Amino acid sequence: MAMEMDILYLFITAVSAFFVVLVAALTLIFAIKYRRRHPDEVGADIHGSLVLELTWTFIPFVLSMVMFVWGADLFYRLARPPADSMDMFVVGKQWMWKVQHPAGVREINQMHVPIGRNVRIFLGSEDVLHDYSIPAFRVKMDAVPGKITTMWFKATQAGTYHIFCAEYCGTKHSGMIGEVIAMEPQDYEAWLAGGRSTGTAVENGERLFSTLSCNTCHKPDSTGRGPSLHGVFGSTVQLADGRKVVADENYLRESIMNSQAKVVQGFQPIMPAFQGMVSEENLMQLIAYIKTLKPAAPADAVKK
Ligand code: CUA
Repeated sequence: MAMEMDILYLFITAVSAFFVVLVAALTLIFAIKYRRRHPDEVGADIHGSLVLELTWTFIPFVLSMVMFVWGADLFYRLARPPADSMDMFVVGKQWMWKVQHPAGVREINQMHVPIGRNVRIFLGSEDVLHDYSIPAFRVKMDAVPGKITTMWFKATQAGTYHIFCAEYCGTKHSGMIGEVIAMEPQDYEAWLAGGRSTGTAVENGERLFSTLSCNTCHKPDSTGRGPSLHGVFGSTVQLADGRKVVADENYLRESIMNSQAKVVQGFQPIMPAFQGMVSEENLMQLIAYIKTLKPAAPADAVKK
């Protein structure tokens, strides 16, 4: 979207520049043309002009609405990753970027991506506010502690592009840099094959789900002490306090780290909070796994 972004930016700059020049030039011309030539000159009595006032209200209104609609359209498309995206997990910490590929390969301060493919990034922070910025792609997103944010892009040209941390995050903030290496799809596959995978995010999440004993309470059916997590992602959850929430990534995140924040109706608040026990990377793996849990079979649902 870099080109679209640039055209919009150019349009806004051009409109602004045009009016700056127009107003400054007219100020100057009128100041000279209508200057007082004799000490006894008196200014004309002007009572305004409806036509003029309507014109200078209407034209800027139209221009600003064009900027608004155009910008909003671009913003919405940038804010919504397409469904066919490939998921990357990026965690910022003082002062590095940790990247995990869908196939499980990890890297630090580098991110290899195939060109022509939509890439969605789940972004987290282990300590303070960072900002994952890839200026060449015209994308940047805050990495916020306690929250998962998303961004997406589609690289169109193979090459190496800068990554910057764009949020002051401590003494070595300026060194929190890296590079995106956009590759032809077959080169990316070759690169992936050469990397050492420690299991995909989903596999790691599944392992964590049992090593952290999540599975002892969250059973696939409704017999566990905790709610079944099958089909929970994307569903609407009824909470004990009467609220209803949509189970997105941040709901799952909060329910793991700060389990008492939103207790599901019909269950006791007995789950321990995992804040400080699960790293951001592990958290993203757990969430990736929970997202794969399919809803229970219809017969099961009826029984419930
Ligand atoms: Cu991280 Cu600045």
